[in-house]
Amino acid sequence: MSSNDNKQFSSRLGLVVATVGSAVGLGNIWRFPAEAQANGGAAFLLLYVACVFLLGVPVMLAEFSLGRAGRSDAFGVFHKLSPRGKWWLIGELGILASYTIGCFYMVVTGWTFEYLFNSVTGDLYDGMVQVAAGGDFTNADIFFAEKMHQYISTPWPPIIFTWLVILINIAVLTGGVQKGIERLSNILMPLLFVVLIVLCCLTLTLPGASAGLEWFLKPDFSKINAMTVINAMGQTFFSLSLGMGTLITYASYYPANTRLTFTSVIVAMMSLVVAVLMGFVIFPAVATYGLTDHSLVGATLVFQTLPEVFACLPGTRLWSILFFALLFMAALTSTVSIMEVTIAFLSDRFKLSRAKACVLTLTPLLLLSSICSLSFSSLSDVKLFGMTIFDFLDNFATNILLPVGSIAICVYLGWFAPKGLLHKELTNNGTVRSLLTGVILFIIRYIAPVMISAILIAPLLK
Ligand code: PHE
Repeated sequence: MSSNDNKQFSSRLGLVVATVGSAVGLGNIWRFPAEAQANGGAAFLLLYVACVFLLGVPVMLAEFSLGRAGRSDAFGVFHKLSPRGKWWLIGELGILASYTIGCFYMVVTGWTFEYLFNSVTGDLYDGMVQVAAGGDFTNADIFFAEKMHQYISTPWPPIIFTWLVILINIAVLTGGVQKGIERLSNILMPLLFVVLIVLCCLTLTLPGASAGLEWFLKPDFSKINAMTVINAMGQTFFSLSLGMGTLITYASYYPANTRLTFTSVIVAMMSLVVAVLMGFVIFPAVATYGLTDHSLVGATLVFQTLPEVFACLPGTRLWSILFFALLFMAALTSTVSIMEVTIAFLSDRFKLSRAKACVLTLTPLLLLSSICSLSFSSLSDVKLFGMTIFDFLDNFATNILLPVGSIAICVYLGWFAPKGLLHKELTNNGTVRSLLTGVILFIIRYIAPVMISAILIAPLLK
């Protein structure tokens, strides 16, 4: 096998599965239900679907086209396609964004691993029997809040699990595109769908299923306002891995005959399906057990509320293991895609071997992610712009770097890239038809930059 073989996905299925692996992650399983809950349920879902297809797919196609046309890392693509300008700065920005996201994403992936581990050992539910006796859920609330505190807000355990995740990343990514990324996704993604469907079958038979589903699926349009639209857009970019060069990097490994439009629609649909199925898991469960609303914010939704739900079910540990395995698998395939941006950059630019690039990229995270993790314990008083280190990095990357990156990618492809690049890529050099190139180009040129700017401007108006 020539070394080039390992710089390309081996099959159409393999590349789709790997790209879905990047897209489907904590964003769909952890962030989406919390966002849907905070933004009015079905109304948010509707906006999200619209954003995914009207904005997400065109921006994804912009990244795919640049990646495959430039066949290089996020920096190299711009450098190759427009050697004269400073467009490579977009690639540098993407590398910064991916590294920043990597710092905190590793930590949350570490939590999922810790919860999986403690579901297997039973520690997560240790001592629960007495607390939950008589169905006293007020106490169960406190019980799982304390567990979460113990797992996340003490210095060492979350750091150790984060380190394990980083080591797994090194092991997988050293294997390269086919034997590392593609193989991992080929194993974990089908498993993830099976587990998700099994969990759905469980929650849809709960007595509160219809009430939960009604809340999730029956839109109340009065809940839609400018902020819900902006939140839906932010969720779209994060959950489709847009704006930081991940998809540019992955597309540079796509074979020349890959149908980009078809691939983007499949990836968007898969990501959407996982988010919706996750709603089917969470909202019926929450409606059935009447868990208090205040427990439904952000991180606590899956790390505190769901264990409470599992505690009420026969087979508590089994459900808990299945769920946290699901979360861990989804997160892991996303971490490798996030880190691949920097690894590709280092190995392309500095001609480093893959192993060296992996170690160089991932070892600093042992320290940086630990600092992030400590913002829930020893470093909780350290504030940047009034936020903990973790929240600052999350906000800085998600609300600033990703939108700026996406706008820049659209502006570049729409206005400054070599003429006809999008058309050439969408038609595979004129060999397949692409009826929608005009519409996609219109969105990339005009609509996407304006709409995405709103994500940047909105917080300033508050
Ligand atoms: N899309 C991933 C998720 O939903 C997160 C991610 C963002 C991955 C950006 C790569 C790049 O969790």
